[in-house]
Amino acid sequence: MRFPEYRARRLRRTETLRSMVREVRLSTEDFILPFFVRHGRGVREALSAMPGHFQLSPDMLLKELKEPVERGIPAILLFGIPAKKDSLGSEGYADKGIIQQAVRAVKDAYPELVVITDVCLCEYTDHGHCGVIRDGDVDNDSTLDLLAKMALSHGRAGADIVAPSDMMDGRVAAIREALDEGGFEQLPIMSYSAKYASAFYGPFRDAAESAPKFGNRRSYQMDPANSDEAMREVAMDVEEGADLIMVKPALPYLDVIWRVRNSFDLPLVAYNVSGEFAMIKAAAQNGWIDGDLCMMEALTSIKRAGADLIISYHALEAVRILQSAGHKAGK
Ligand code: PBG
Repeated sequence: MRFPEYRARRLRRTETLRSMVREVRLSTEDFILPFFVRHGRGVREALSAMPGHFQLSPDMLLKELKEPVERGIPAILLFGIPAKKDSLGSEGYADKGIIQQAVRAVKDAYPELVVITDVCLCEYTDHGHCGVIRDGDVDNDSTLDLLAKMALSHGRAGADIVAPSDMMDGRVAAIREALDEGGFEQLPIMSYSAKYASAFYGPFRDAAESAPKFGNRRSYQMDPANSDEAMREVAMDVEEGADLIMVKPALPYLDVIWRVRNSFDLPLVAYNVSGEFAMIKAAAQNGWIDGDLCMMEALTSIKRAGADLIISYHALEAVRILQSAGHKAGK
């Protein structure tokens, strides 16, 4: 490839040409849209750092789902805010828990929609950590039983996929075993395989009321400097029976997405987390960037890095743009 025989600009001259040679395209089917559910009726509480997102009671969640479903977004991811927190996070695996109620309501109203549930204790524990506390740290092995119970109760409520985000060692195997024994051998596990101890989860922790009350999550979530370790984490989850693997966050870890993509052929999910969403929203609200263009560029980069599916708070807005006549014409 040498100038002047090769001129890279020849194929950039019109939108039609650019579109013909475009390597990566976002589509509606790529997206998973997260929601926060809480007890009550008629609750729709705005989340200040996540414009356009709310804490919703199950009835309001059903209303909120109308447009995403009509537009063909295939899946949602549910996070729950319990009525009461305790040291073992018991509402997390209670039959009448908020997630269990929400899943039943959603599957009843929208049977085709894929409902994914977050399997993690941090929203349900009074200390805000993702597992059982022993001697001041999160105890791995005693947490596994609770996670397995939680996944099973989500399965009973009708979840289509369970997604463990706790980062305990061995949890995929523990959950798989419990699901199989409970008759849910067909229920897939989407594992947060390489989940980093990231400051970009800030807005989520306010939204889900799940910030740790002491310390931080660095003894179980990954060190941001490591990508060899990410490969071991993914390999372990695959070995234990994960059906989909995940890298989280997305934008600061595109290299990890790329590396995982090149070594594993399971469906790869990237989580474009709350802080990534909030940064674009905040800068756009200040008039410092074009929010829509930055959003589409960021989402495209995640797909280009190798993600098959993208969990994003931008999902509905992105899909509106993808389905607009202007976008199709390249405007
Ligand atoms: C629960 C969980 C978290 C997120 C998803 N599941 C928070 C955390 O690990 O502290 C973060 C998602 C986001 O920031 O959008 N463990």
